[in-house]
Amino acid sequence: MVREISERESELPDAVIGKLLKIAAEDKSIISLGPGEPDFPLPKPLIQEVKKIASNVNHYAPPGGRSDLKSAIIKKLRKDNKIKAEAENIVVTTGTQEALALATACTLDVSEQIIIPNPGYMGFLPTFELFNAVPKFVELKAENDFSFDPDLIKKQIDRKKTNALLLNTPANPTGTVLSKKVLEEIADLAVEYNFYIFSDEAYEKITYDSSKHVSVGSLNGMEPYALTFHSFSKTYSMCGFRLGYCVGPSDVIEAMTKVHLYTTISAPNLSQVLGIKALSLPSKYTDSMVKEYKRRRDYMVKRLNELNLHLKVPKGAFYAFPSITEYSNNSFKFANDILKKAKVAVVPGTEFGTNGEGFIRCSYATHYDKIKIAMDRLEKFLKKKN
Ligand SMILES: Cc1ncc(COP(=O)(O)O)c(C=O)c1O
Repeated sequence: MVREISERESELPDAVIGKLLKIAAEDKSIISLGPGEPDFPLPKPLIQEVKKIASNVNHYAPPGGRSDLKSAIIKKLRKDNKIKAEAENIVVTTGTQEALALATACTLDVSEQIIIPNPGYMGFLPTFELFNAVPKFVELKAENDFSFDPDLIKKQIDRKKTNALLLNTPANPTGTVLSKKVLEEIADLAVEYNFYIFSDEAYEKITYDSSKHVSVGSLNGMEPYALTFHSFSKTYSMCGFRLGYCVGPSDVIEAMTKVHLYTTISAPNLSQVLGIKALSLPSKYTDSMVKEYKRRRDYMVKRLNELNLHLKVPKGAFYAFPSITEYSNNSFKFANDILKKAKVAVVPGTEFGTNGEGFIRCSYATHYDKIKIAMDRLEKFLKKKN
């Protein structure tokens, strides 16, 4: 008798994005505004470093991370995030995604609850469901710039069962950068109701205009509550190296380090050595990417608004999340139509949760010239539609 796949797996959602991006990859005439990763190459000094270090990194790294990388992270956290951490507060992971899984395994028992944003990054919900934790959703509204509303959070809190709240700033898919004031209000709730804050800061370096990234872990009294997730993927165009880290209370980090032995043993040693070099780079490498993202953002947002795909100017990350309600109330169908008829791939808002209905996500981690062609195609398609 053939054994069955576990219920845990079969209940996980099948990401529509996978199917759309497969079509986009196979049909070269399609312009994809789907990607969630930088389109820039690895910074030159990192390419040189990879060549130099390859022969010395064939051994496992310690499960918690190399001590020389942790030292570099400690400095970076103090300088950039205003977080005071020691080595015992850090676990180096195979990207943020693994860190989220480790943190879930170590803080949420079966049927305990975590409050998560809706819409929110599609990697969040399945991670919590894999561990049989129960997600409770807090709606992020366009009229509130997709920021958190503390009153809506309160409604989802169960004094006994709520063990954590997840926030993501700058946010995927909305580009929202949470203000210090909102973070302080969330921090107050964490203390009052005694829950952890998972703070996903993968896009911390990608902010525009006068927006400033603030780490909730830097706020007064947050040390016992905040688990902050950082990534090398977006800042240094290092997605394929799979490197991230989590900063938090030493008991949780110790538990995550223990579990790490049974997931990936350690983050790739090569990536960790490269991470040290990345943290030593002058900011010009990331700044030049951000400058180009801003140029693309300004252009894309203008064109989308002219097409009645309305949105406010996003302040961080590299996504535009316009409303499609002038044309459709079904974001999947709309994205599918655009794909087939305009040959432009976007991600339906429903991929990010039920409250993503009525929106699409357009990534501007795509070459400026391609964005131009994509917008022209959209214009032609939407004119015909009306
Ligand atoms: C909000 C968010 N968190 C985490 C990740 C995954 O990051 P990493 O490559 O560090 O696992 C992504 C990737 O797109 C993301 O958008």
